[in-house]
Amino acid sequence: MPISFDQQTKTVHLYNSSLSYLFTLLYTGAVGQVYCGAPLAPRSYPFLALSASGGVFHPDKNTVRFEYPAYGTGDYRTPAFVIQSRNGSTVTEPLYQSHKIYDGKPSVSALPALYTEREDEAQTVELTLFDAPSGVRIILYYTIFTDLPVIARRARFINAGEEPCRVRKAMSLNLDLPDRDWHLLTVSGAWARELQISEKPLMPGFQGIKSSRGNSGHQQNPFLILKRPATTDSGGEAWGFSLLYSGNFSATVESDCYGTSRVQLGINDETFSWKLEKGESFDTPEAVLVYSPDGLNRLSQVFHTVYQSRLARGPWRDKERPVLLNNWEGTYFNFTEHKLLAMASAAKELGIELFVLDDGWFGERDNDSSSLGDWFADTRKLPSGIAGLAEQITGMGLQFGLWIEPEMISKKSRLFELHPDWAIGVPGRCRSEQRNQYVLDMSRQEIVDYLTTIITDLIESAPISYIKWDMNRSITEPFSLSLPPDRQGEFFHRYILGVYELYDRLTTRFPQVLFESCAGGGGRFDPGILAFAPQAWLSDNTDALERLRLQASASLVYPQSSWGSHVSAVPNHQTGRSTSLNFRAMVAFFGNLGFELDPTTLSPEEKQAIASVCAFYKAHRRTFQYGRFFRLAVPDPALYAAWQVSSEAETLVGFYKLLAQPNRPPVRLHLAGLEPALVYDVSLWEEGGFEEQDKSYNCGQRGGDELMYGGLLLDATYVTKRGDFFGELFVIRHGTATLPEEERKPADRAGDSRGDFGKKLSV
Ligand code: DGJ
Repeated sequence: MPISFDQQTKTVHLYNSSLSYLFTLLYTGAVGQVYCGAPLAPRSYPFLALSASGGVFHPDKNTVRFEYPAYGTGDYRTPAFVIQSRNGSTVTEPLYQSHKIYDGKPSVSALPALYTEREDEAQTVELTLFDAPSGVRIILYYTIFTDLPVIARRARFINAGEEPCRVRKAMSLNLDLPDRDWHLLTVSGAWARELQISEKPLMPGFQGIKSSRGNSGHQQNPFLILKRPATTDSGGEAWGFSLLYSGNFSATVESDCYGTSRVQLGINDETFSWKLEKGESFDTPEAVLVYSPDGLNRLSQVFHTVYQSRLARGPWRDKERPVLLNNWEGTYFNFTEHKLLAMASAAKELGIELFVLDDGWFGERDNDSSSLGDWFADTRKLPSGIAGLAEQITGMGLQFGLWIEPEMISKKSRLFELHPDWAIGVPGRCRSEQRNQYVLDMSRQEIVDYLTTIITDLIESAPISYIKWDMNRSITEPFSLSLPPDRQGEFFHRYILGVYELYDRLTTRFPQVLFESCAGGGGRFDPGILAFAPQAWLSDNTDALERLRLQASASLVYPQSSWGSHVSAVPNHQTGRSTSLNFRAMVAFFGNLGFELDPTTLSPEEKQAIASVCAFYKAHRRTFQYGRFFRLAVPDPALYAAWQVSSEAETLVGFYKLLAQPNRPPVRLHLAGLEPALVYDVSLWEEGGFEEQDKSYNCGQRGGDELMYGGLLLDATYVTKRGDFFGELFVIRHGTATLPEEERKPADRAGDSRGDFGKKLSV
């Protein structure tokens, strides 16, 4: 049983073989955080329980580690929630009322959440707190997965009083950690420059990230990681906190004068308030905590496992994703049916499986200034419509996919002529245009209903097997005509609930269609949206060098199967940089491979090269998309990068030289997660960077111990010559033979924990 209750100390203990999390009833009646970290045996912990309240004499509430801290009664740190009563007071002090432990995990309607497939995969404890003067009841939900260091948390607020009240802040998670010896790792960025990692020591005071744009944003991503200063990808302690939400969020840490660190994750309270009438309730989004005592790779792999298998839904969750050609960078808005058919036919010859028609097919859209909302084919460009085009393309043996941007409306559109009031804006104020477009008010039910009908008809009108759902601007002038003045604070959350509802209806209606989410690239790349669309367009930046950084940062939390990675033409459209086709392919392999170019313009040599890229990828696609991902250590990350993916049958390793420097020492690339005592068969992708005479020395039969502790050798010839942007791809088949007993080092004879840790990950 992964959750127990100790009657003596009134302590709840969530535990499994990788993690313990304890909270206790304090003498005041509030609930305190006792311990979280490496697993403790399930027994009584009176001394730890005492430490939650800051010591024997309970001198100061600011020394207490609260589970879900309230406002206004002596804890001057930031509260986890704020409720305003009818008399205007925001003081509350909810006390323990009851708790209940049960198997499985309850679902939350309307919001994305982790799920279980069997009751024994997880246990849940519901902790109920009650603030008698306001009549507000708070239920905190904690679900621990039996075989994973994962706890999912959320809160429900119920107005059980007689008077209406207002929830002004409602964090999904609060965690008071006992010390400050952590580095805070977040990502930030901008359009086409998303996911830049920032790491800094926790400082006294307040730190973190937040979005107030209506989407999670290019500028930040809804997670934070706390790692010990010395933690690396391969070792050391770390906590990951990730929010299943696509709207305005905040992820913060407050480090106080007693050295404790208060972590909070939830809806950004600056743009939020929610009115609760008598009897009404409010559910926060879900937050996911992951603990790793073994470094960031382990932390990431746990997130990957749980997001791949217990967040993503529908038949595409486990299916291999098709290799696609998207026409965007090949043509932008400038195409005809004839041109698209020529591109599709060339793509088919290369081994591409899905042709995606991007922006510019509807209304009269020759640039980005018009037609969003008019989801009918532009017959000037497509005389036989979407159905005619799609039928011809599927007739070639390809699948057909289509781009839409349903949440948007152009001022120059029929939809705007009919419904100018559907665009978000405040009466009496100008609406700000961005990319020449406005945003539809997705908090309004009639708009969600309208879009459901229009997109359902569109998908039913043609053999469409993939939808790319774009969102190219954030929200300004937030306001909804459908909400009364005292509910305008609900707008942003209701907007995202409307988006989720539309996604839910369409993905339920069309389970066979693969949905890819996109927001000008990575503007809405978050776990909330992955519950509906199992993959996303990570960034509009398709430069291979930039993608090395983007994909590595994304892999901190997100699995490779969740991002599209495309080979585009050179010079690259975003950076002007030229890299070889094989270098671009070796980067794009680690994700869902696609192409973003015009295949009709390729030379015969390029066509042949792309055909072999596609053939190689398809032969190894399950490993690339679903294998266990490692960021491998390299001596100088400014010069090199290396990734590994491993499945049961094989390991694939990409080594990338970014910049050449003369007279460099050789690189020893230490692989990870192999069985030390197993024999592996190492070879190279023949299209990779090595020349024939270099191919021999790493190849052949090698022990797992040798590959992990000795490493692959990338010698001076390789790392100093042949210029910049040069890669190599190792293909390593997993043997069944084990090394003879006398050839194993002593530790491996007894079994090395590094060798089998992957098996423990599987849910
Ligand atoms: C932004 C996307 O990220 C691109 O891939 C493309 O679909 C454009 N929008 C089209 O407007």
